[in-house]
Amino acid sequence: MAGMIPRPFIDDLLVRVDIVDLIDSHLPLKKSGNSYTARCPFHTEKTPSFAVTRSKQLYHCFGCGAGGNAISFLMDFSHLSFVEAIEDLASFVGVEVPRESSTTPFKKKTASTSFKVLEQAASFYVEQLRNNSEAKIAVDYLKNRGLSGEIAQEFHIGFAPDSWDSLNKQFKTQELIDAGLAIAKDTGGAYDRFRGRVVFPIRDRRGRVVGFGGRVLDDSLPKYLNSPETDVFHKGKEVYGLYELLSRNAKPNRILVVEGYMDVIALAQFGLDYSVAALGTATSKEHLELLFRFSSEIVLCFDGDKAGQEASWRAVGAAFPCLRDGRQIKIMQLPLGIDPDNLIREKGLAYFEQQIDESQALSDYFFERLSQGLNLSDIEGRASLINKAKSYLEKLPNGIFQDLMQNKLKALTKVESLDIFKQQTNTKNTNKHTREQADSKLSPIRSTLSLLLQNPELIEILENKNINWALINLPGVDLLKEIVEIIISAPTIKLPCLLEHFRGTDKEKYIKIMMNHEFYISGSEIKEEFSGAIDRLISQGYEHRLDQLIAQERESGLDALQQKELLTMLADRK
Ligand code: UTP
Ligand code: MN
Repeated sequence: MAGMIPRPFIDDLLVRVDIVDLIDSHLPLKKSGNSYTARCPFHTEKTPSFAVTRSKQLYHCFGCGAGGNAISFLMDFSHLSFVEAIEDLASFVGVEVPRESSTTPFKKKTASTSFKVLEQAASFYVEQLRNNSEAKIAVDYLKNRGLSGEIAQEFHIGFAPDSWDSLNKQFKTQELIDAGLAIAKDTGGAYDRFRGRVVFPIRDRRGRVVGFGGRVLDDSLPKYLNSPETDVFHKGKEVYGLYELLSRNAKPNRILVVEGYMDVIALAQFGLDYSVAALGTATSKEHLELLFRFSSEIVLCFDGDKAGQEASWRAVGAAFPCLRDGRQIKIMQLPLGIDPDNLIREKGLAYFEQQIDESQALSDYFFERLSQGLNLSDIEGRASLINKAKSYLEKLPNGIFQDLMQNKLKALTKVESLDIFKQQTNTKNTNKHTREQADSKLSPIRSTLSLLLQNPELIEILENKNINWALINLPGVDLLKEIVEIIISAPTIKLPCLLEHFRGTDKEKYIKIMMNHEFYISGSEIKEEFSGAIDRLISQGYEHRLDQLIAQERESGLDALQQKELLTMLADRK
């Protein structure tokens, strides 16, 4: 990946960004003398030893030694690769990342072609809605639903004509397939994916069209059709309406997460311009992390039906690891049969916002839902609550919120001395338990890389695992493979030499950070930790692939080979 992003661009980016603003948007900082401080996000501590200095544009933790610039912060804090960190930083500053050359020219080219095709398709659909006489039913449909012309324009709502080739006759078939706009036929050729539907372009944070959602105009099924996963569209990482939201308000006080395209649009039309929708998928940790970059308060507002309630509960599960101090999640429950679109139309903005203000704090919602059906006046009920809550509370990052949640559980169950809490409230964070906990928070790829870099001899364990790399398509795995190759070709290599391989490359800092990560373990513990990290990495890769296949199966179906792969994976799962 060396040379992919021009070095002067990175230097310039670091000059433009203010590290204090950047870190403050992730982790609230307090001014203290010449620097800004917080409790360190990279290790467990009760008093702040994490300091950010504006004049130096650096951060440093006096407790755990973590430190670096804006890029290393994003890499460590958000578990990003170097390139992802640069991309994040660029979007924080509001610029595009230029590319010099690329080691995967083909893929990059497909992506840039897809962006172009998708943008042109979006314009075509908008133009169709305006000018095609066949679109009258779509215009009537939208009017009937109470959409204003302005809002349709702002969200670039369009119309896909009821034809098999309205795109196909203007674009190259393969380009349409790559962009998710056409479906390949077994007999060769392809046909348009969206036909006779109102279409909603989905944009990424930078405003590029990455996919579409399309709604039928009657009661036929499926009601909504979405673009499949492509090189440029990843449902687990995008939300609908974020670009439109940010172009109205770059720093919203809160973000409302709703279920549907039409909800976002109706809310915006009525003046509630801070909502987004998950794209027909469960709200993921990635979605929430993305939203927390722009606001510290997220309100989940799903439909009042069973599916909506299930979606809220799952989102809460996904939210736990993201709940650092200063971030807040609230749950707004809607009456059965009502969605945000109906509610704002019937009751108006003021009422809707009042409902948001009165929505339930995550902690209340969590314990209420978890205690359902349990009798807390008997021992069994309380024990069961502790058991259920434990696995969630363990996922919370250390901090005041975690303390408060634990206190609440103690109060509810009237148990003062719970084992899981004893360890965490110990004053010294140098005990082994807490150290291991900190390590288990490293992502599997980070653990694997850090341990391997620090102990090249661990290569033996890795080789014994006979890993099928093709199945682990995760950020950082390419770097791991590169390091593995270096070590295999020079088995006695030592740390400084290994570092030389990366000097002056984009990976150098990343490697340095991982080389310096302290594990506080020795001997056989290192081997165990490493072996465990690889196993977690493999299963993460496996889950990722499984999600991909299942999503594709739903969207566009699988070919025979993929079918077989999916079935084998599902069979292995047992
Ligand atoms: P809903 O069924 O709640 O639709 O699905 P809605 O948003 O209220 O739509 P209208 O008001 O009937 O037009 C919520 C979301 O779930 C996804 C879509 O993203 C939709 O906006 N969905 C729903 C699908 O992906 N496919 C479907 O067939 C249905
Ligand atoms: Mn609806």
